[in-house]
Amino acid sequence: MCGIVAYVGPKDAAPILLEGMQRLEYRGYDSAGIVVSNKGLKVRKAKGRVADLAKLVPASFKGKTGIGHTRWATHGVPSDVNAHPHLSSDERIAVVHNGIIENATELRNKLQADGVVFVSETDTEVLAHLLAATVDETSTLEEAVRLALKRVVGTYGIAVIDSQRPGEVVVARNGSPIVLGIGEKEMFAASDVAALVRYTRQVVHLEDGELAVLKADGFHTFASEGLETAKEPLTVDWDAGHYDTGGYEHYLLKEISEQPETVARTLSGRIDERFHVSHLGGLNMDPRETRSFRRVKIIGCGSAYYSGQIGAQLIEELARIPADAEPASEFRYRNPVVDPDTLYVAISQSGETYDTLAAVQELKRKGGRVIGIVNAVGSAIAREVDGGVYLHAGPEVSVASTKAFTSTAVAFALIALHFGRVHDLSPADGRRICAGLRKLPEQIEEILKQGDRFKELAEKYAHHPSMMFVGRVRGYPVAREGAQKLKEISYIHAEAYPASELKHGPLALINPELPTVAIVPDDELLDKNLTTLGEIRARGGKVLMVGHREPEADLADDVIVVPKNEIELDPILLTIPLQLLAYHAAVALERDVDKPRNLAKSVTVE
Ligand code: G6P
Repeated sequence: MCGIVAYVGPKDAAPILLEGMQRLEYRGYDSAGIVVSNKGLKVRKAKGRVADLAKLVPASFKGKTGIGHTRWATHGVPSDVNAHPHLSSDERIAVVHNGIIENATELRNKLQADGVVFVSETDTEVLAHLLAATVDETSTLEEAVRLALKRVVGTYGIAVIDSQRPGEVVVARNGSPIVLGIGEKEMFAASDVAALVRYTRQVVHLEDGELAVLKADGFHTFASEGLETAKEPLTVDWDAGHYDTGGYEHYLLKEISEQPETVARTLSGRIDERFHVSHLGGLNMDPRETRSFRRVKIIGCGSAYYSGQIGAQLIEELARIPADAEPASEFRYRNPVVDPDTLYVAISQSGETYDTLAAVQELKRKGGRVIGIVNAVGSAIAREVDGGVYLHAGPEVSVASTKAFTSTAVAFALIALHFGRVHDLSPADGRRICAGLRKLPEQIEEILKQGDRFKELAEKYAHHPSMMFVGRVRGYPVAREGAQKLKEISYIHAEAYPASELKHGPLALINPELPTVAIVPDDELLDKNLTTLGEIRARGGKVLMVGHREPEADLADDVIVVPKNEIELDPILLTIPLQLLAYHAAVALERDVDKPRNLAKSVTVE
């Protein structure tokens, strides 16, 4: 959460910072601010979006060193004064921060006792004052930052400038990402390469505990004890085009529409037709080890957790290994029993979600074997795990996850196939799953072709204040993800229930005002699902069915038919109409589709 951008070089910093901050708005978008150094510090900050801030930045706002920030509030409401950057009282030092300073109250009390006057409610402001207290005692800004950070407990990615040292930016990382961008006689830094790829594809990821000083002609990195570290720049594959809406009205629609390609990329090079197995070299596991696990435990947050439920189902069905998914945010707080015979799988699109990262660290501390399913290459979770599967879905910008969700489910199908074929999954079943996986991109394309139908249906149902989603067994995680998508972006209340549980309570809610979206795959549970539809209709409930064929009896008001794959893989395809229904409902209700209220894409705080 919160996006940081920094620039030092021969150009004016402000337009570069504002452009980069716009790319990072997925990380937080309740307020924004920039500061440039030009014979003193010039600051502009405001509640609202980066575009609102840009209107307040005059052409005369010049300075060749600067830092910027887009915020998702943790300490203090979104407001002009709480927006970053925060300055020391003498306006010499400015700092932007992503993360949480846990001992902020204690530090604030000490600083106030020394006479420092605070102007904001943020934890970050203590950093500015701590730095002001240290900066004259050291010969370099990086040393001042290093010493000040020694007094800080918590997580941070920070960028700092000092009006008395124009031409220098210091950045530091502990738990919140910082990436350096290396240009021609100019240097950049940001929370994510998304803000850099317009200017350079040569990057350096800082490790936790590292700090760096950036000047136009280069950079130096240091460990927390002050010794210089050696870093090799990497070339990132993604370019600026990956971060554009590509002619679509919203990133969300672009990302939904990309799924034929993103699913193909997740599969690419990983299916072996000879033995009907999958190749997942990144797992770093030989067959003996692969056979040794007796359980699989999957953890993730939000949509990652729901895709983990699909994954658990796939692993149980194909590999016959007991598997279950749990929110990482719950898992980490319940002193989990870590079993040496269990394989733990952490899922995260961003690779940054703090709850998931903390759960992985807890697992590793207790000796657990953890693999990751991650989209962002080199991210914190990817680096923490013992091995894993990258999704290769490309950057996901819209806050609601879509293409990462389907790619994660596909990655689980590959893992389940891999585990299944070292256990008892027959070559014939292996062949069946390989063929099914290969068909997915084309079948997603077929679903996307029904575009207008989703729009019509979404407009028909969007005026209801609440909707029920039901599914049985394989369909249940699909229902949960469908409800999640709808509530996240349209703000329509949505509840997901196992279809089998409806009669044990929530049936009391059913009436003509509460429509039900029912996931009804053509599998061995079809008749049971159709009975549930009958029970809903008998209570006057409207039904929008998502399945593989029109029911013979009059059991649904509307039916969306998706192409049939293998029963184990059907959940992947059944999810796509729900993404499109949520998208069109949000558009019909004029919501801010890509940046829904109160949310952020990567939640790097507790
Ligand atoms: C946030 C986002 C969700 C996302 C979840 C996990 O809550 O709003 O859309 O599913 O984080 O994100 P991750 O990057 O770990 O998959």
